Amino acid sequence: MNILVLGSGGREHALAWAIKQNPKCDRLIVAPGNAGIAGVAECAELEITDGGAVVDFAEQNAIDFVIIGPEAPLAAGVADRLAEAGILVFGPSAAAARLEASKAFTKEICDAAGAPTAAYARFTEAEPARDYIRQKGAPIVVKADGLAAGKGVIVAMDEETALAAIDDMFGGEFGAAGAEVVIEEFMTGEEASFFLLCDGETVLPIGTAQDHKRAFDGDEGPNTGGMGAYSPAPVLMDAVAEQALTEIIRPTMIEMARRGTPYRGVLYAGLMIENGRARLVEYNVRFGDPECQVLMMRLGAQALDLLLACAEGRLAEARVDWAEDHALTVVMAAQGYPGSYEKGSIITGLDTLPEDSFHMTFHAGTRLDNGRIVANGGRVLNITARGATLAEAQDRAYGMIKQIDWPEGFCRSDIGWRAL
Ligand code: AMP
Ligand code: GLY
Repeated sequence: MNILVLGSGGREHALAWAIKQNPKCDRLIVAPGNAGIAGVAECAELEITDGGAVVDFAEQNAIDFVIIGPEAPLAAGVADRLAEAGILVFGPSAAAARLEASKAFTKEICDAAGAPTAAYARFTEAEPARDYIRQKGAPIVVKADGLAAGKGVIVAMDEETALAAIDDMFGGEFGAAGAEVVIEEFMTGEEASFFLLCDGETVLPIGTAQDHKRAFDGDEGPNTGGMGAYSPAPVLMDAVAEQALTEIIRPTMIEMARRGTPYRGVLYAGLMIENGRARLVEYNVRFGDPECQVLMMRLGAQALDLLLACAEGRLAEARVDWAEDHALTVVMAAQGYPGSYEKGSIITGLDTLPEDSFHMTFHAGTRLDNGRIVANGGRVLNITARGATLAEAQDRAYGMIKQIDWPEGFCRSDIGWRAL
């Protein structure tokens, strides 16, 4: 079959790499893609949040199946446009994507579903929000309701920071995303991510992961999109996963279906685990990046069969074959990230790296320039490895990094420390 993947990051490189290994895949196009993706698929220019343009492109290229990577096209209704055109698509409708696109909506669903999550209040005006913060005190969490490229959450350890966040959000710093604000109880515990495929009826767990959000070793420094990840997450042991399924995920899916907006796609549940119980931090309606890289490393070619079963509503008959293994990915970023950084520095040594089912270098932000690989973003490479143990996967990944020559880049040297 002919497959189109939308997106251009390490997540989409990992998806393309896994899909390409499945004999069902005849032709693979990734739009817009990047220099690494160009090694496994055709790359094409396409405005991926424009549903009409995506439908036209899919029809012109006889695409049988579209897989949507990032949240923006989902929130923009690209899956709806494809479905209306009769094209098979992996990814939720815009109505179901509100589970990521609106934090207030997610809280409303949790209330209706009785799912454990942080206590909260929602505001559309600054003064009552400030009063609420003064009344509750710090630590407290202030969130812009809408999509804010991962920057709309302020975990305030003191009242002043929380009040400043209110000024920023209602002052327009996050545009329309900040027109409504959710203020939440600060939850303590250990965070982990649970990934599930949902076809509107059946829920199929496909793996757990943990990421490292802070830029520097020891979980210090500013928040980023994620500096590394590993799978499985030891804190999400079977009993916790089962509780999260019964108390959080299944009731959410039932409530979404009851409202006439069934959820179909991958659900990424961010959980806070304390004393053996999970509470919901947030939902995302897509694979995590870089969590997808470690999941794909462990799933391999069967990923395509699972995504197809999900899109075709056949999850009840699908099975996941897990190897009892571990995967770990280290993000190499441009110096300065997540602040300002330069693009265009040259990366060498990549051609000496092994590429097999135990070692893969996924590209997050690269571009080809006269045959050379150059950095083209903040997060640039995801050095990913698999092993019988997490320690082995970690050794392999850092062994690969030693062979990369990129003075303008940096990475954390302790990815996986919490689980080791
Ligand atoms: P979100 O975008 O909702 O995942 O928030 C980003 C990060 O902020 C999460 O991964 C948590 O580390 C943190 N966070 C969000 N909500 C809370 C909360 N209620 N209590 C503690 N930490 C939180
Ligand atoms: N790594 C976090 C995310 O994809 O949202």
